[in-house]
Amino acid sequence: MHQTEESANAPTAAPAAVLTGLGSWLPPRGVTNDELSAHLDTSDTWIRERIGISVRRRADPKTATSDLATEAGARALRSAGVTQADAVVLATTTPDHPCPATAPIVAARLGLVNAAAFDIAAGCSGFLHATTVAAGLIHSGTADRVLVIGAETMSAIIDLEDRSTAPIFGDGAGAAVLEAGRPGQPGALGEVVWGSDGEHADAIMIPVGGSRNRDSRQSAPHSERHVQMRGNEVFRHAVRRMTAAANRAAAAAGWEPQDIDRLIVHQANARISAAVSDALGVPPERVPSNIATVGNTAAASIPLLLADAAAEGTLRPGHRVLLVAFGSGLAWAATTLVWPPGLHAER
Ligand code: COA
Repeated sequence: MHQTEESANAPTAAPAAVLTGLGSWLPPRGVTNDELSAHLDTSDTWIRERIGISVRRRADPKTATSDLATEAGARALRSAGVTQADAVVLATTTPDHPCPATAPIVAARLGLVNAAAFDIAAGCSGFLHATTVAAGLIHSGTADRVLVIGAETMSAIIDLEDRSTAPIFGDGAGAAVLEAGRPGQPGALGEVVWGSDGEHADAIMIPVGGSRNRDSRQSAPHSERHVQMRGNEVFRHAVRRMTAAANRAAAAAGWEPQDIDRLIVHQANARISAAVSDALGVPPERVPSNIATVGNTAAASIPLLLADAAAEGTLRPGHRVLLVAFGSGLAWAATTLVWPPGLHAER
């Protein structure tokens, strides 16, 4: 068919980033609260009531983040029915090595020949940051298909004898495939609201091991080489920042609270999720959760929850979904999408 001069000159809308595949993977070993209580001054009741976790997964010491990421990535690619991607964007707080990035290792193991591959470090909001970067690559025409992964081996960086972090964090990975599509089609990512506040960087920090404090790398106490967290302070920031970001993302989509069919909140603490959903006016039955069985898996949290909710039928085609995450940085992000038809998450 011949194009008229007018249609040939009409500006074409930039492609949208559309969710076409979803996968996740968890290491098999679960660590119960009772197991933790055997060597920590805590209890099953305290952890369930104050955090909402019953069991978290722990990778064996020979398993690294790329191992989890490769498993989840392979499942997401299969879920999308594809074998190649133009880029791999991996969100993690726990790379295999300080250098190089973990994404190229994962891309090679997945057989993604010549794919651009790099890591994103944005703590527990890393997956939504990675998704945003991937969507930008698609909008600009730089990539047509991107594999986005959130993967964590948190057990490698927490002090297993610290009761303020050991009960909270778990290991796991989740992944999504984003492909170029039409703006507004089901599965197209909406506007992103994100930000950071480095004034409170030390609220969740590993003080030693990077370029700061390098003189004390060998001599630093065990606790300073692992995650230190002022949990109570983080709790308050998390509720405030996630509520504000989620409100703005919903408004950008033109949604009122009653329009939100599913609220996907980073699984940090069941009480944080409850406070955020309450502040947003979204009833608890619209707020899926898996923290009880996986714990806080940082950058893996959002895709793990999406895969669980989709596989269990809690997320259904046509649902208006609001996603929000918060974590170290401090950093946060929120976005929206309408759940697409025909998406089969593979766990
Ligand atoms: N077991 C038993 N008691 C514990 C405990 C544990 N694991 N951890 C703390 N406590 C005690 C404290 O010592 C304190 O005792 P006190 O009242 O005698 O002083 C009491 O419980 C309350 O401590 P607090 O720190 O105020 O508890 P909290 O209700 O804020 O819960 C967290 C602590 C860490 C679970 C909670 O703050 C949290 O989840 N924060 C967000 C953390 C997070 O998810 N970060 C990741 C990035 S989002």
